[in-house]
Amino acid sequence: MTTDPAPAQDPPPAPGTYRMRPGGGCPHADNAALLARGPVARVVLPGEIAGMAVLGHAELREFLAHPDVAKDPRHFTALREGGVPDGWPLRTFATVPGMTTADGADHRRLRGPVAAAFTPSRVEALRPRITTLVDTLLDEVEEAARADGTADLRRLFALPLPMAVIGELLGVDPAHHERLHALSERVVATGAGPEQTLAANRALLAVLGEVAAARAADPGDDLTSALIAARDEGGGRLDDAEVIGTLLLMVVAGHETTLNLVTNAVRALCAHRDQLRLVLDGRATWAQAVEETLRWDSPVSAFPFRYATRDLTLGSTVIPAGLPVLAGYSAAGRDRAAHGPDADRFDVTRAGPRHLSLGHGPHYCLGAPLARLEATVALERLFGRFPGLTLAEPEETLPPAAGFVGNSVRRLPVRLR
Ligand code: HEM
Ligand code: HEM
Repeated sequence: MTTDPAPAQDPPPAPGTYRMRPGGGCPHADNAALLARGPVARVVLPGEIAGMAVLGHAELREFLAHPDVAKDPRHFTALREGGVPDGWPLRTFATVPGMTTADGADHRRLRGPVAAAFTPSRVEALRPRITTLVDTLLDEVEEAARADGTADLRRLFALPLPMAVIGELLGVDPAHHERLHALSERVVATGAGPEQTLAANRALLAVLGEVAAARAADPGDDLTSALIAARDEGGGRLDDAEVIGTLLLMVVAGHETTLNLVTNAVRALCAHRDQLRLVLDGRATWAQAVEETLRWDSPVSAFPFRYATRDLTLGSTVIPAGLPVLAGYSAAGRDRAAHGPDADRFDVTRAGPRHLSLGHGPHYCLGAPLARLEATVALERLFGRFPGLTLAEPEETLPPAAGFVGNSVRRLPVRLR
């Protein structure tokens, strides 16, 4: 848990504002400081850009579904007026074309075909494949642990799983799996420089172009084929670039998120053996463990950006039109006003308001059923096979992942038996 002050070279933020630290750290310490100022806070983003964060559960719920809140970056005043430098680290998030930065009819046009193809039955049909993938990865984890009984579960299990699953969903030929995996890892690698990220991004787009061409020539019962069908029959509802862009979005949005969820769940269960016991004894379900992890240690910490299209009062705070606003998912999950005085306690049997960690409103996570399926199968097979699994290092010494968008630890060394 880090509470170090802002780096010395930065000027102090104005009174009443909070500096988002690009280096990351335990978000729950930062969130507690932010929530103490109220459910909606002024923040300073990297690059001295003024912004806000919505942290309270009720306020975030209202904000995410508010008719006067937009994601289209044309509403971002500083960006529109040239006040945001080209190399700004959060620029891609704000401006990447696609459903995450679209509103209203344009959003429905981009999201509709994917939502139609991302059916519960298509997701459920993946269960046997996901189970096989999980078991194969666990064989590899066991092999890696032969030397000293320990293995890094984040790198060897939580990381390759979502990539393999998304490959299945998109109908990627097995020959392309390795490359897709290596590239997407580089695209979201937070340590990488902008040039490396761009190069990986271009190469990833090229692979996805090959995937789309292969499925256009030989359609299957997969998401890519369904998107191509939507492009061809839907009267130009999605153009070529949008099909590829959507495939890319599925890869990036499903990758770091699921990785963090599986990591955070294993870590929470190892550190709360009584809770693990409840599930192993059948007094609670793996699904409950997944939901409580989403609330207690949200894989997405603060998501960029939304903009009020007019000055908006939320709680008792005004969100001025045009400022970039972060959705504070990890804070909302620990908000005592919603989850009670014991909001900081990890309790898989908790009955309370449903967390917001998969979003809410029109941009609600499209991959939610898949994320839940992957995480429950992963936990069930992992702890079913290694019920005595423990952390190989003290929990509080595990280094936090970089950045404030995601929330996890960089490594998860475990002892299998
Ligand atoms: C544990 C795993 C996951 C978590 C915690 C998660 C979380 C979220 C959140 C919080 C949002 C809303 C972002 C916002 O606008 O504020 C979102 C959107 C989205 N997610 Fe997920 N996600 C997960 C897995 C996945 C997977 C597996 C996929 C796809 C395969 C996926 C695809 C998407 C897409 C496409 C959107 C954008 C929806 C839109 O803008 O309309 N997610 N996710
Ligand atoms: C655990 C949370 C997440 C982390 C740590 C994370 C991290 C990153 C990073 C480091 C990048 C590269 C930024 C750049 O190129 O400048 C990125 C790109 C992106 N992310 Fe995420 N992300 C997360 C969740 C999500 C979610 C929930 C969504 C979907 C709603 C999403 C959608 C995107 C998109 C669309 C891009 C741009 C892809 C491109 O065209 O290069 N991410 N993410």
